[in-house]
Parts: sequence; C-alpha cells; structure tokens
Amino acid sequence: MKDQKQAAKPNQKDSPDDPPAPMSSPLDRFLARRILLVVTGGIAAYKAAELARLITKSGGLVRVAMTEAATRFITPLTFTSLTGQAVVTDLWDRVNADDNVIHVAWSQWAEIMITCPATANFIAKLAHGLADDFASCTSLAFQGPRLVAPAMNTGMYLNPATKSNLEILTKRGYRVLESPEGLLACGTIGAGRMAEVPMIAWEAARLLSPSLLKGRRVVVTGGATREPWDDIRFLSNRSSGLMGSALASAAWLLGAEVTLIAGLSATVPNTLPEGLNVQRVETCDDLLTAVAQALDGAWALVMNAAPADFKPIERIKGKIRKSGQQAPALTLTRTPDILKTLSPQKGQTIMVGFAAEDGEDLKSKARDKLNAKNLDYIAANRAGGQGDVFESDSISLTLMSSGGSEIDVGPYPKFQAAWELWHLLASGYGKIS
Ligand code: CTP
Repeated sequence: MKDQKQAAKPNQKDSPDDPPAPMSSPLDRFLARRILLVVTGGIAAYKAAELARLITKSGGLVRVAMTEAATRFITPLTFTSLTGQAVVTDLWDRVNADDNVIHVAWSQWAEIMITCPATANFIAKLAHGLADDFASCTSLAFQGPRLVAPAMNTGMYLNPATKSNLEILTKRGYRVLESPEGLLACGTIGAGRMAEVPMIAWEAARLLSPSLLKGRRVVVTGGATREPWDDIRFLSNRSSGLMGSALASAAWLLGAEVTLIAGLSATVPNTLPEGLNVQRVETCDDLLTAVAQALDGAWALVMNAAPADFKPIERIKGKIRKSGQQAPALTLTRTPDILKTLSPQKGQTIMVGFAAEDGEDLKSKARDKLNAKNLDYIAANRAGGQGDVFESDSISLTLMSSGGSEIDVGPYPKFQAAWELWHLLASGYGKIS
C-alpha cells in the first residue's frame, strides 16, 4: 500500500455546529457552549454556584433558572455575578423589553440543561410534566440532553415515589446522577447527597461531546510499572501516566466504556470521572494479567503504559541493609512483552502500541515494533532530548497503521492529542479494506 503522510487537522470539528475540539482539558468542552442551569430549592443550591463558576471559567455561557424555593437558599444575584448572564426566577419576568415567551426562548437557546440540585418535588414535576413556574416550564420545553443531580433527605430519596420518578426520567433519556451516601444537612447519614461538582461537570461535558465511541469498550494503560528489588526499592521509569489519563478521559467523554489500567506511580488525577473503571497495578506481570482480563470483547486496547522491560531476578523480603555489606549485585531478568503475548488472541480488538524512541530513525524503529508485536497501530513519539514526551503536558506523535499509512498529530496538549487519536481510530484511519 502506498504510504500516505498527512497531518491531523488542528481544532478538528465534530460537526458543523460543534465548536473546536478541546484543547488542554476536558473542561474545554464547555467553550462557547450554552448551558441552562436549573436550580431548585435545596441546601445544595450553594454548590450550583460553584458549578456555574466552573463552567463560566471554562468558557461556557450559563443561564440560570431558579425556583422560588431556590431563592430562599441562594440569591439570583450570586448567579448573575458569577455568570455575567441573566437569572430568571419568575415566569412573568422579562430580561429584555421585547422578550415574550422567555421560558421557550431559553429552552431553545440552551444546548444542555442541568438540574442542580434537583429536589424530590422538582423531579416529580419533571417526571409528570408539571409546569407551574419558570424553571419547570423551561425544563418541560427543553428538548436537548438533560442532566439531573438529585439532592434530598435519605427518606425522600429512597421513597418508592421518588425512585419511580427517577426511573421515569432515566427511561426518557435523562442522565440521572447517583446521590452518594454522606452526612446530610438534616443530620442524617445516608444516600441523598448531591453528586460532587466536578462529577457533574464531567457528566455535562460528556453530554456535550459527540458520542463517537458509544457502545464501545476500550482498555487504556498508562504510567510506569514498578519492579520491586526489596520491600523499599524498585526499578521504574519516567512515564508520568498523564497521556494514559488523557486517553481514558477523552474516550469516556466520547461515550466509551473505559477501563484505565495504570501503574502505581502514574499520575491519575483524582478528578477523573467516576464512570471510569480505574485499576492500579504494580508490576509488568500484574499489568499483563489485568490487560488479559480486560481485553475480551474490547473494541480497542491502547497500550500507553511504559512497563519495565527488566526486573530483579528475585524480590528480597524486607530492606536490604548497607551496613557491613559491599554494594549488592543486582541481577535482572526480562519481563513479559504484554503486547506480543496478547496480540495472537486479539480477535477483533484494535491494538495500539506507543513507541517512545530516542535518537535517530524514530519512525522506522516504531514500525519495527508495530510489525514485531503484530499491532494495528503504533503511535511514535520522542523520548529524551528536545520534544521529550515524559512528564510533559504536551505531545507530538505520528500514528502509523499496519496498512502503511502515517499521520502526524500535534504538538498538542496531551488531552487534545488523545481526542484526535480516538477520532482517527474511530474513522478506521489507514485500515486496509
Ligand atoms: N510494551 C509491552 N510490554 C512490555 C514493554 C512494552 O507491551 N514489556 C508495550 C508498550 O506499552 C508500548 C510498546 O510495547 O505500547 C512499545 O514499548 P517500548 O518501551 O517503546 O518498546 P519495547 O518493546 O519495550 O522495546 P525497547 O524498550 O527495546 O525500545
């Protein structure tokens, strides 16, 4: 097949209506997006202010609709100040003199509606189509993706009426967030707390993303393994795990079911979405076991981890002491090559390796690895020296396919590079037909 050499387009759009692809962070999904935030009357309303601020800071336009009860907990002025946008509390309010049916206008303006916090009463209204104030009228009129963050007392939350109302919403396509257990404002410890603000933001960002990978399960590995020498010391490498986390979160935003298998030392931000299945592993052998278990039925395996290639031949129990000893000899043995071991059983799973290379011939070394490990793709990038990928926030890579195609991606922030990679894989880039 003829070699194709192209560069991925920066700021690739997902559809003509979609703003540019995210740049450095998942929260960039909010850039220039129109969000209708419906705040109803519970103590968690103060957290809605934090959400409004977070989205606004990320470039989103947030209009807030409040119920009368919500205004008892937090003032409309708080939201106007945070968002720089109008806040409507009354069905008969007019933001501009020529506003007529403002609840309809707002429902048509918004790209997503977030009800946060959603009280038991408001959930019941949503489920049964009641519309007797501005917040419920505009909610009923809204036709786009809807996210609901319930918050209430445990008894109200567990009441079969509320449960059934939440089920109705889920069946109708609302994304209803779990209300985790915790200490509630009423003093009870139990379910009914509102989901944390960063989780609500993640879910909203997912609803604003194209569902490119919906229905697909992907496995991503990231970070370095640790190969213990004794109980204190280990061999490892400089892989930070940032690209693994970026790949996992980008896939999740694009609708995939994601397993992230990360080395213990990998930087896995604690704000990753809860929907992501994160497994931590220590050694290359553990990584092999975890990947082998996760692989079955996966649409893609993206092997971004940097497993150690060698390990001490034996793990010493306790701590090797230096007193009275000469420096001990450290004998190493090879660890298993995970991709090579698993590629014969990959079936339909797309297998993607990463090749961090130093020195000359980066691409030919990467292609040799693609062939030796029988991969569908390899992403070649530079390790060491100028453009070093390790511990960096950005990456420049060339995606090479088994069919002989090549495409440059970046230099981009790692999150954006991950976003582009998933688009390329989903498009079947460079596949031999
Ligand atoms: N890899 C693997 N198992 C290993 C080592 C690496 O599956 N024991 C995977 C990496 O996750 C990566 C690809 O193989 O996707 C290439 O890794 P790299 O470290 O660049 O190459 P190696 O195969 O380890 O060869 P070398 O270190 O000699 O360059």
